[in-house]
Amino acid sequence: MHYAWLNALPHDIPATLRRSLEVAAFEADAFFAPRQKQVSFSVEPGLGEAYRLEENKDGFHVTGGESGVLYGAYALIRAQQTGGALPQGEQRPHYPLRMLNCWDNMDGSIERGYAGRSLWFEEDAFQYDPRRIRQLGRMLASCGVNVLCVNNVNVIPPAQHLIDTLLPDLAAFADILRPFGVRLMVSVDFAMPMQDGLSTADPLDAAVQAWWADRAKEIWTAIPDLAGFLVKADSEHRPGPATYGRNHAQGANMLARAIAPYGGQVIWRAFVYNCLQDWRDTETDRPCAAFALYQPMDGQFDDNVILQVKNGPYDFQVREPVSPLFYAMPRTRLALEFQLAQEYTGHQIDIYAMPPLWREVLDAIGPDTPRAIAAVSNLGRDENWTGHPFAQLNLYAYGRFAWEPDMEPEAVICEWIGLTYGDLTADQRDALAQLLLQSRETYEKYTAPLGLCWMVNPAGHYGPSPYGYEFQSWGTYNRADRDAVGIDRTAAGTGYADQYPPEIAARYADPHSCPDNLLLFFHRLPYDFVMQDGRTLIQRIYDDHFEGYDRTAAMAETLRVLPLPEQDRAVVLERMERQLRNAREWRDVINTFFRRFSGAEDDKGRKIYK
Ligand code: GCU
Repeated sequence: MHYAWLNALPHDIPATLRRSLEVAAFEADAFFAPRQKQVSFSVEPGLGEAYRLEENKDGFHVTGGESGVLYGAYALIRAQQTGGALPQGEQRPHYPLRMLNCWDNMDGSIERGYAGRSLWFEEDAFQYDPRRIRQLGRMLASCGVNVLCVNNVNVIPPAQHLIDTLLPDLAAFADILRPFGVRLMVSVDFAMPMQDGLSTADPLDAAVQAWWADRAKEIWTAIPDLAGFLVKADSEHRPGPATYGRNHAQGANMLARAIAPYGGQVIWRAFVYNCLQDWRDTETDRPCAAFALYQPMDGQFDDNVILQVKNGPYDFQVREPVSPLFYAMPRTRLALEFQLAQEYTGHQIDIYAMPPLWREVLDAIGPDTPRAIAAVSNLGRDENWTGHPFAQLNLYAYGRFAWEPDMEPEAVICEWIGLTYGDLTADQRDALAQLLLQSRETYEKYTAPLGLCWMVNPAGHYGPSPYGYEFQSWGTYNRADRDAVGIDRTAAGTGYADQYPPEIAARYADPHSCPDNLLLFFHRLPYDFVMQDGRTLIQRIYDDHFEGYDRTAAMAETLRVLPLPEQDRAVVLERMERQLRNAREWRDVINTFFRRFSGAEDDKGRKIYK
């Protein structure tokens, strides 16, 4: 089939394909017509999300499948706008499911949201501006995301009604996003049958199974392309199969069987640990939890279950090793979960560009280990979508990595700058790229030292509080005293390091081969421990914190003279001031904290408060 002109489309073309072609043609036309170029399209339904691009004498030609035409159009625009070469040959996404998990509550609030209220919920109902939702669709399609989970993984009432009385509203919302190749997903609560009058939610109970089967039929009748259910079970007070003495494979498979006839997938989260730990208990070690629970179940999950694993074993801390589950479940479909919402990484006030983190994680586990990819959304109703305009980079880059997980962080950052701030000079773009590229390391230096984690303020997770989590029930301890800091996670300690394959475990287990930036994740060390670079541990903590602040001050200088578009510039500069105050606070609180314990002076005689 070859369609040069949309009005020549045959009548029998499927409606979904027609709509994505319309979007693709509209986008291409808006961009290329003023440049006196034409874009034509061919459809090869078998290509699905894949596409090919060619240049011809009049302009360009896009060949693609259903959403492929759409992705092809955006790729073409991207290449033109950044001056990049057209991608050669057939392009297809690496991960078939590229999910955005929105933690939106139906009252309009967003759990860990830093960009305003929900774009689609308010007053316990769907309430949105359809134009804004279409813009959202464009945005997601243009960076390659294809699944949107609409509600919080903590399913807060009345969100349980999304799959019964509110189904027509959910279906109407799905209709808006469908032309952009975006399918919906919903978070469901494992105990939903009980909210509907059943006496149990036991996954082996026939009435429970029938309840889910009936529900599934109704849901997929209303929304035949719903991607599936996202489930947080037996975690942080959410109900789950454990209540009934059943394991997670039994729980997930029960749901999976109810939705399998419709092609639905169960995305079952592996973020499960004891959040009621006694701090006096030094045997239990939270990072061990997910592996201990799930690894023995490898091979027991149905084909339409995906186990969604956070990138690290804790919870999106500034620096964690990758989750050992990625090395240990070859017979289970895994999804890799990142968090774009900057919960522990600066609340979209501080600049924290994530591509270097993702590069590290994907290099460590290999891009083919996960079979799907997910990210907690950083979007909200703010005019710029993400609070800090630079936080848009993280959404964009996430989508790009989901297509091409071997991308280099610098390349994707430059691409985003080229698309967003194309009017900057090459030098200015370069300065911004370097600032973004280094922003994670800068943030890391002024916040949690050397892989220690959880020194953040428990109330809200912004700003320092080095002992804030120390006597709580969340399994989040640094156990700093006057002699040493950290937890021994080697075989002599909690044994966490042994959850990795032997060669990785051996590297982590020896403090002389363990990477510096994870040293205190794996070891409990005295302050005078001599690090690989010859500095003592305490001196390194001081140096990093001073350096982190100084780098932040330098960032502020770079941004002060950067001629960003006015509406972005005002926000960026105002947030930069807050970041600088935050960096100063972290530097001084952490340095003082460790000085008080260790009594050690700074070698360089800088100011550390008493
Ligand atoms: C973190 C976060 C919670 C969230 C949880 C999750 O603990 O603070 O708000 O619910 O992660 O991923 O489920």
